[in-house]
Order: sequence, then C-alpha cells, then structure tokens
Amino acid sequence: MKSVLITGANRGLGLELTRQYLERGDQVFAAARQPDTATELHALGQAHEGRLVLLPLDVTSADSLAAAYQQVAAATDHLDILINNAGILPGHPGSGIDDVSEAQKLGNLRYEDAMQVFGTNAVGPLLVTQQFMPLLRAGRKSRVVSLSSGLGSLELKASGSHYHYSASKAAMNMYMRTLAAEAGHYGIISIMVDPGWMRTDMGGTGAALPAADSARGIIRITDQLHAEENGSFMTWQGKPVAW
Ligand SMILES: NC(=O)c1ccc[n+]([C@@H]2O[C@H](COP(=O)([O-])OP(=O)(O)OC[C@H]3O[C@@H](n4cnc5c(N)ncnc54)[C@H](OP(=O)(O)O)[C@@H]3O)[C@@H](O)[C@H]2O)c1
Repeated sequence: MKSVLITGANRGLGLELTRQYLERGDQVFAAARQPDTATELHALGQAHEGRLVLLPLDVTSADSLAAAYQQVAAATDHLDILINNAGILPGHPGSGIDDVSEAQKLGNLRYEDAMQVFGTNAVGPLLVTQQFMPLLRAGRKSRVVSLSSGLGSLELKASGSHYHYSASKAAMNMYMRTLAAEAGHYGIISIMVDPGWMRTDMGGTGAALPAADSARGIIRITDQLHAEENGSFMTWQGKPVAW
C-alpha cells in the first residue's frame, strides 16, 4: 500500500487520481481548499474507510501548508507519492472558459492575475514539495509528479494566448527541474506531466479526453519511473514533451 498526497483533490483530475489510487488499495491524503464542501471526497472516504484522509490545503498559504504537514505527519511516517495537481487559469474564476481566455489577451492583462497564477501554479508546487520533503525522504524511492501543460512549452508556443498560464507552467517546470536535481540525491524521482486537454472545469466541455483516462496514464507512468527519468517533462502517456 502506497501513501499518496494529492493537492486540489476535490474536483477534476485531482478527484480522479484520488478515486483511482483508493480503488487499487493505496492510502490517499486528499488536500482541498474547502474540504467541508468536498462531497465527492466525503463519499470516497466512506467507500474506502480508513484509507482516505481529507485535509485543508491552500497551496498559496504558508500557514495552511504547515498545518497540512502536521496533519499528514501525525498519520504517516513517510510519503511515497506527492502529486502537485492544484492549478488555476487566471482571470475570472467560475465565469467559463471563454471569459478566462479573454482575460489572457493582450489589452486585458493584469498584474494581479499574473501574481495569482504564478503563486498557485509555479511557487505553490515548489513550496508544497519543500514542506513535505521530510516525509518524502523517509519514503523508499518516492516520486513527485507536478502537473504542467503543453502550454508551458517554450518550443511549442505558437499562439498569442494564455500569457500568464503558459508562463506559470514554464516557471513551474524550471522550479521543479531544479528541485529534481537536488532531491535526486535522496533517491526521489520528480517529473513534470502534461495531462492532455481534459474535460474538467478548467479544460471545458470541448475537451475530448476524460480526466479518468489521464489519471490512469499518470498513475501508470508514476509506477514505472526510473532514476534516469528524474527531472523530465512528459505527457500522461509517457512521451517526452519539448521544453
Ligand atoms: N484541464 C486541462 O485540460 C488541463 C490541461 C493541461 C494541464 N492541466 C493542469 O492539470 C491540473 C488539474 O487540472 P483540472 O483540469 O483538474 O483543474 P480544475 O478542474 O480547475 O481543478 C483545479 C483544482 O485545483 C484546486 N486549486 C486551485 N487553486 C488552489 C490553491 N490555491 N490551493 C489548493 N488548491 C487549489 C481547485 O480547488 P477549488 O475547488 O477550491 O477551486 C481544484 O481542486 C492543473 O494543474 C492544470 O493546470 C489541465
């Protein structure tokens, strides 16, 4: 049984990863900003009694991170897998993908949006990983999987869109590749994963890929990682992505 921590576990890809790790018998620490209202996580907790720990975590808050660490450390002496899944598109949350895209067009760009998305998508995964490093180091060949995006690829960038989001994922790639170089010395394998264009609140209804398929692929590649893959950027199917 592996112990897995997943951020942004209450919906979208994070919820699917939580469901699938639980279904195969692992222990999941499911972190959500508002665990009290995470009804699907509560239902999963009842269906898999004793193997789901639901905890509050806002990845942009140092206090929240410290409290989450205390809660996880009280329940386990190690972590096998950390999945940095939480992420946002900047702009007008909850208003739909079209408005979110509008907020990232030249003429509409705002400093506040940039800071919000960088804090969540780039700095967040780095500080979550830093916070949980003692438990990851206590695991055997622990893995850190950080959700990136093809939109974060400099080489593939060919459209004047998603300014803040793309830059935040490129920044996250650099943070986590740097961390991979350091944490690799402790036997920890860290990768960045493009989960594909998924049908979630973020991806919208036009996306073809169900989050469950992407989650299945991410779990499979995480299980099969080798030390040589530390620091790499790959798709949910394990294919390399151009930086
Ligand atoms: N969907 C796609 O097509 C796609 C493509 C490429 C990459 N990705 C990446 O894949 C990951 C999952 O995407 P998704 O489609 O599942 O997104 P989603 O449906 O919008 O869910 C995002 C999750 O992140 C959480 N979150 C946002 N800000 C947070 C914060 N400050 N602290 C903690 N949790 C926070 C949300 O919590 P609340 O419910 O509290 O808001 C929610 O649980 C993201 O990193 C995303 O950038 C997605």
